[in-house]
Amino acid sequence: MRQSVRPARALRGTIAPPGDKSISHRAAILNAIASGRAVVENFQRGADCLATLHCLRLLGVDWAWRDEATLEIAGRGRAGLREPPAVLDCRNSGTTIRLLSGLVAAQPFFSVLTGDASLRRRPMGRVIQPLRQMGAHIDGRDGDSRAPLAIRGGALHGLRYRLPVASAQVKSALILAGLYAEGETILEEPTPTRDHTERMLRAMGAAVEWGEGLVRVSAQTGELSPLSLRVPGDISAAAPWLVLATIHPDAEVRISDVGVNPTRAGVLDALRMMGADIRLEKERLWGPEPVADLVVRSSQMRGAVIEGDLIPRTIDELPLLTLAGCFAQGETAIREAAELRAKESDRIRTTAAELRRLGAEVEERADGLAVRGPQQLRGNTVSCHSDHRLAIMLAVAGALAQGETVIGNAAAVAVSYPWFWRDLEALTVP
Ligand code: S3P
Repeated sequence: MRQSVRPARALRGTIAPPGDKSISHRAAILNAIASGRAVVENFQRGADCLATLHCLRLLGVDWAWRDEATLEIAGRGRAGLREPPAVLDCRNSGTTIRLLSGLVAAQPFFSVLTGDASLRRRPMGRVIQPLRQMGAHIDGRDGDSRAPLAIRGGALHGLRYRLPVASAQVKSALILAGLYAEGETILEEPTPTRDHTERMLRAMGAAVEWGEGLVRVSAQTGELSPLSLRVPGDISAAAPWLVLATIHPDAEVRISDVGVNPTRAGVLDALRMMGADIRLEKERLWGPEPVADLVVRSSQMRGAVIEGDLIPRTIDELPLLTLAGCFAQGETAIREAAELRAKESDRIRTTAAELRRLGAEVEERADGLAVRGPQQLRGNTVSCHSDHRLAIMLAVAGALAQGETVIGNAAAVAVSYPWFWRDLEALTVP
């Protein structure tokens, strides 16, 4: 599917983004091993979270839709999963393959996990190595570095491990394994990453502690309580509207019920550092997660350096922040973000290449990107490299560029934001 985007005359309105992808995956996986039924409202029905649900069904978990976005999960209890009768196809989803690797490594059965061509290119050594150190039997393609992964699950022991890369997926895989391992598992993070797994597990009664760069988890001997919750809106799906509205000269947009967990919401800090006018209203808690309405207006943007602790907290928003930099006064530099090369596409390369097609001058660096603004973008035909975050960034670029922008394989947005094109149309004053 090719999608044409034209410049927006103005932007007005209110939207509610889809439920948070990271929290939806975790709500499904953690409730699958709790004892009893949980009801998860506003579950994100994007392709990635559906991949998790399909894998869980193969692991013997019953779940059903109560309505379009309400999922009911019948937890199987701590020891209730069964050997999957077929390969666990994680499709495009890194969160699915990494979290499930940690979980199935501790189960008394054999599993094979794989995914689409993009997922099979992504690094898996980062979960294989530490899980092996916990006693797991895992083999992977390409010298144990890539999927498919073959896992003969069994008894594990805890370990103390320093993560070589800041990754919430790896951390969560090891926390899941740690729930089943004998003794304590202590994880050291180089920089803090999203803590949804920790928050949810604690709410379910698990012995998880975290802070000051360490996560500690002890073997779960009793059963986890099911956690019914309403999933906050996904800040990564709010991000395109935040960027579009701050840059556009005539915009005022409200984004309701957005998750603003500080380990996740770095895009708010980065955009404010660049001068964005974003207000948080109605701040409250939905279960273990903070939520707010975001009100965003046209702003005078200036360049900023995005690095250090801000990188894991903005990791999925860095293509959009590069685009914001094109319109900001002065230089915007993204540093220490080599992890971007290990996403659904090499997002340093693809972001630079596609923004250049729109006429932007973008410097590609080994560990990031740099742009000097303001620049005028001109519509063109672009490719999202089958990467949902690229497709969304290019749509925002198209709404800010002169003339028409045509995005190839635009259906890729469905991985995380199935009704993205509808929301773009709803906010656009033609
Ligand atoms: C995610 C963690 C991040 C992020 C991904 C979702 C998660 O990946 O990019 O979209 O749900 O834990 P890494 O942990 O690989 O950085």
